[in-house]
Amino acid sequence: MTTKMRSEIAEQPAALRATLSALLPRVGEVEALAGRTRHLVFIARGTSDNAAVYGRYLVEAYAGRMAGLAAPSIATTYKRRIDMSGVLAVGLSQSGRTEEIVETLAWAKDCGASTVAITNGGEESPLARTADLALCTLAGVEEAVPATKTYTTALAALAVLALGLGAEVKADDLARVPDAVEELIADPGDLDAVVEGLAGVQGVVVSGRGMAFSTALETALKLKEACYLHAMGLSYADLLHGPIAVVDQDTPALLVAAGEGPTLPGTVALARRVTGAGAAAYAVGGGPELAGAATAALNGPALPEWVAPMGLIVPGQLLTEALARRLGYDPDAPRGLNKVTQTE
Ligand code: AGP
Repeated sequence: MTTKMRSEIAEQPAALRATLSALLPRVGEVEALAGRTRHLVFIARGTSDNAAVYGRYLVEAYAGRMAGLAAPSIATTYKRRIDMSGVLAVGLSQSGRTEEIVETLAWAKDCGASTVAITNGGEESPLARTADLALCTLAGVEEAVPATKTYTTALAALAVLALGLGAEVKADDLARVPDAVEELIADPGDLDAVVEGLAGVQGVVVSGRGMAFSTALETALKLKEACYLHAMGLSYADLLHGPIAVVDQDTPALLVAAGEGPTLPGTVALARRVTGAGAAAYAVGGGPELAGAATAALNGPALPEWVAPMGLIVPGQLLTEALARRLGYDPDAPRGLNKVTQTE
């Protein structure tokens, strides 16, 4: 049986090509906001919040500005006013219709921030209409509840945003992303072994650092919602501060890293520590070095670290879809979840 989730995973190369072709010519519109931007605040929930983590790391690592994630309750529940002059507030919502996110972006504008929307909901969505500038992704309709193509295209929009803010990266790297995603879909590595390794475990720790942190969070969210697995996504730096205590024979680790970059050696060391403790460590990306230290390995994209998260999530999506079916669940319609969630 082909699930909607599996079809939508396969649509990502085309969705990324369409989104990048539409948004790359618009870098200048972001540049127009860059001069008055000292800090960034991302406003999002769920998968969009995980995309925002990538945006935060991109902006801080390459575009020379501090960036953080907003707590929407400050706007919507506590109703506080904060001076946001010099702030670029970026609202991310796949649907563009999550009221809490629209309200928080409007609040940021009212507090003096410049505003950008990143949404797959189109120019007429409430979020896009609220923002000074809308960067609309072109993922097409996404029906499966677990977000896939709306996530990777949001990452592409964030990469365009970072370019507009003067990120010191090679813009040409983006052109390589759709093909790299296509290759991963065709050959995700040892998917069957990892599916069997996670079938029946108590829980799983999903860890990565830096650019890969967003992938760890998003992989854990996918496994929670579609496989009902207690998946804990965290940075490996935080993992070492206590949570690593839960890793044992019944609680393996999925370790995520780009094939190059400063967080790879730490991830390899972590894989050795996990297997040394008698637990399984499954690699997601990280090239031969991480695969060599792991129990089994899913392939990562052959991409530079700054764009790697657009590919690194793909094996986690495929794993989630296959594991859900292996456990007898329908990945398209997890129990109790809707495509658009309203908080109150
Ligand atoms: C994704 O797998 C989740 N089901 C969830 O995060 C979902 O993407 C989110 O609730 C959608 O909200 P949004 O339209 O505001 O992004």
